[in-house]
Amino acid sequence: MARMKDQCVVVTGGASGIGEATARAIVEEGGAVVIADLQEERGHALAGELGERALFHHTDVTRESDIIAAIALAQDRYGPLGGMVNNAGIVGAVGSIMDTDVAAFDHTMAILSRAVFLGIKHAARAMRAQGKGSIVSLASTAGVVGGQGPHVYTMAKHGVVGLTRSAACELSRLGIRVNAVAPGGTVTPMTDALGDNNPASTAQFIAQNSPLGIACMPEDIARGILFLLSDETRYMTGHTLVIDAGLTTGAVPPPFFSQQADLLLHAGLRGSDNAK
Ligand SMILES: NC(=O)c1ccc[n+]([C@@H]2O[C@H](COP(=O)([O-])OP(=O)(O)OC[C@H]3O[C@@H](n4cnc5c(N)ncnc54)[C@H](O)[C@@H]3O)[C@@H](O)[C@H]2O)c1
Repeated sequence: MARMKDQCVVVTGGASGIGEATARAIVEEGGAVVIADLQEERGHALAGELGERALFHHTDVTRESDIIAAIALAQDRYGPLGGMVNNAGIVGAVGSIMDTDVAAFDHTMAILSRAVFLGIKHAARAMRAQGKGSIVSLASTAGVVGGQGPHVYTMAKHGVVGLTRSAACELSRLGIRVNAVAPGGTVTPMTDALGDNNPASTAQFIAQNSPLGIACMPEDIARGILFLLSDETRYMTGHTLVIDAGLTTGAVPPPFFSQQADLLLHAGLRGSDNAK
């Protein structure tokens, strides 16, 4: 399948984890990608591996001029901008809200929230001439419910979901679609600490906490991003695609299966009693 044939896409944070898997998938599906990341070594190595349809551009997403330059490079080398993936991220400020420092708050918001605003702003400016384009931003399960991440991360990711809806309202008339993907815990360098910096242990930890009992890999999320970038979703905009094994629907991980089954059974019995 070549769903991205001749499409030019910028992926922020494309040197690692979900961004890397997305960059690989774009090239595999016939597109071209600019990997816009801080990590020079990883970014250059990945672009070298992917060949002539991939370039690395040193980008700090907190700098508006860097985002503008990454998009300009993509257009210059590969033609009109077809897609933008606002993916760069960090965990950022952690701990009690009572102890969270304002500088840490500002830094976290600059990467997780302000940079998504800048990515949508400049991608839309680039796409409006051709009246077509697809923008996908990374939210999180922490962007749709509480208790899935630190406070500032949760606030920023809820902001991504909100801006996705708001920008979709304005940009639909220009033919530009704006969507988000909300992953649950995924095995990437960002979640390394969950498994003491051992990806196999991280995968085990994530699988144990997944209602499907399996670990989410970066490719699972990249497939969702590709779906939203491609014309398969030409009628979807303003949508947040949650990819979390059902966690935010109320599904529970394996250790709680029997507890939930009991609860559902009792709810069912009560329902049938009431119906008599
Ligand atoms: N891994 C998860 O469990 C998970 C879950 C939900 C959402 N997400 C989101 O997915 C996105 C990708 O995360 P990941 O898990 O692949 O993490 P990762 O750490 O593997 O990759 C993040 C990339 O962003 C880059 N980056 C960080 N700050 C940057 C900056 N200022 N400018 C440019 N690039 C910068 C890093 O260099 C890195 O390459 C993030 O937005 C994250 O919040 C991840």
